[in-house]
Amino acid sequence: MSGSAIFVACSTLPEGDGDEHAVPEAMADLGFKTRWAVWDDTTVDFGAADIVVLRATWDYAERRDEFLSWTETVPALSNSAEVARWNTDKAYLAELGDAGVAVVPTTLIAPDDDTPRWPKGDFVLKPAVGAGSRGVGKFTAARADEAVSHLKSLHGEGHTAVMQPYQSSVDSEGEFALVYFGGVYSHAFSKAAMLGRGREVDESGLYVTEKLAPVQPAAGFRALAEDVLDATAALLGILRAELLYARVDLVAGPDGKPLLLELELVEPSLGFRQTDAAAAWRFASAVRQQLA
Ligand SMILES: Nc1ncnc2c1ncn2[C@@H]1O[C@H](COP(=O)(O)OP(=O)(O)O)[C@@H](O)[C@H]1O
Ligand SMILES: [Mg+2]
Repeated sequence: MSGSAIFVACSTLPEGDGDEHAVPEAMADLGFKTRWAVWDDTTVDFGAADIVVLRATWDYAERRDEFLSWTETVPALSNSAEVARWNTDKAYLAELGDAGVAVVPTTLIAPDDDTPRWPKGDFVLKPAVGAGSRGVGKFTAARADEAVSHLKSLHGEGHTAVMQPYQSSVDSEGEFALVYFGGVYSHAFSKAAMLGRGREVDESGLYVTEKLAPVQPAAGFRALAEDVLDATAALLGILRAELLYARVDLVAGPDGKPLLLELELVEPSLGFRQTDAAAAWRFASAVRQQLA
């Protein structure tokens, strides 16, 4: 088999952040010529590629409608336009919670909803459509005025807000990102807390700089991630194998048991630099599987 692949990025970082550095070579080993393109570059013929892989489209949050309309024009998109529509709105967390998945308790607050009753401990307010930790803030009921003003600013930008209790395990253990290719486990990495001191935005302005490290997740974490993928496939009416890539971000809850913080099916950094070189081979193999 031979074919062509496009990895899709955004105009600010047209070849991503460098994490996929080794992937095009692994794709070439299996007969794929890979090039990068920017999703809103109208001179690119996305229809000409055998597979078009969303990788670094980190500017979609402010232009979600335009982005989703574009996804629908690309025939061989991975993950699919339908997956992108579902996964770019954190309302999916509530759906997974309703389906029985252990999710960080999530309350959605739409612009015309009343001001909620604030949780007792620290809590987070963030946009329902967002990426790269932008617009995410940590608050406490004792200083409710700050929360009210952040909520107003999210609503003012047209966002529904997501409210969650702050999971303090991110300060000690961090967040665990479990990466799957074609629905099968590949590797994992940890991510230090994003909302503390020393928060720095990357020079691109697209994401808060992350501190990452390889990690071997405990059994309970691996099992929850499997449940998340099964529940997602059931909700979307697809097979897990149809997900070329998935990143399941988990944290330990107050009792130490894992909770889903975020499921990333659109543009997650996949942590190739945090794991063994064969992860790029597993990714390329999953691309072949998509086209088989
Ligand atoms: N409920 C929470 N408890 C603790 N930290 C959180 C919580 N929600 C978000 N964060 C922090 O903010 C970061 C970004 O939030 P996240 O929900 O992953 O949104 P996105 O990555 O889409 O911007 C997380 O990586 C985490 O460090
Ligand atoms: Mg995240």
